[in-house]
Amino acid sequence: MVIFLVGFMGAGKTSIAQLVASEYGYHFIDTDKEIEKNCGQTINELFASKGEEAFRILEADTLRGLTFTTNTIVATGGGMPCYHNNMQWMNQNGTTIYINQEVKELEKRLSSAIQKRPLLREIEKNDLFGYINGLLKVREPYYKQAKFEILSTLVSAQTVINTAIL
Ligand code: S3P
Repeated sequence: MVIFLVGFMGAGKTSIAQLVASEYGYHFIDTDKEIEKNCGQTINELFASKGEEAFRILEADTLRGLTFTTNTIVATGGGMPCYHNNMQWMNQNGTTIYINQEVKELEKRLSSAIQKRPLLREIEKNDLFGYINGLLKVREPYYKQAKFEILSTLVSAQTVINTAIL
């Protein structure tokens, strides 16, 4: 079983994937961490040195370069499903789940993590809600192509596994 978690920045994809890994013995992959490992640069450095378009190509290549030899859960970057037919590729190669968090909750989580994310660095805290709302409108049609969707602030590992084996 290969599970791909998709959703906006701050939705909790990485934390949830780590829970599934520790509670169900799944192999855990974080696509951002894979990119950083392959390139020897942080995501912030990559955006600054190569730009977003180059990052999106790296992201697509990294996704297609993943190998799955055992049960695996993949936490994807928030923009990944929206570029280079990545959503289609994930749907063909595993079970996709959209972790859908409300904009208010995303805003709360992201307001303390702005510096970690290159797309948010120029956004004023007061503008964060509007920014998330706007970008989510563009991205949701991609996220909604996931096979399943979980709507909950606190998502347990059990919910993910039960959803994936439906
Ligand atoms: C991005 C989300 C980030 C990371 C990069 C771009 C995006 O991942 O891939 O900063 O475009 O939404 P997280 O969703 O893990 O924050």
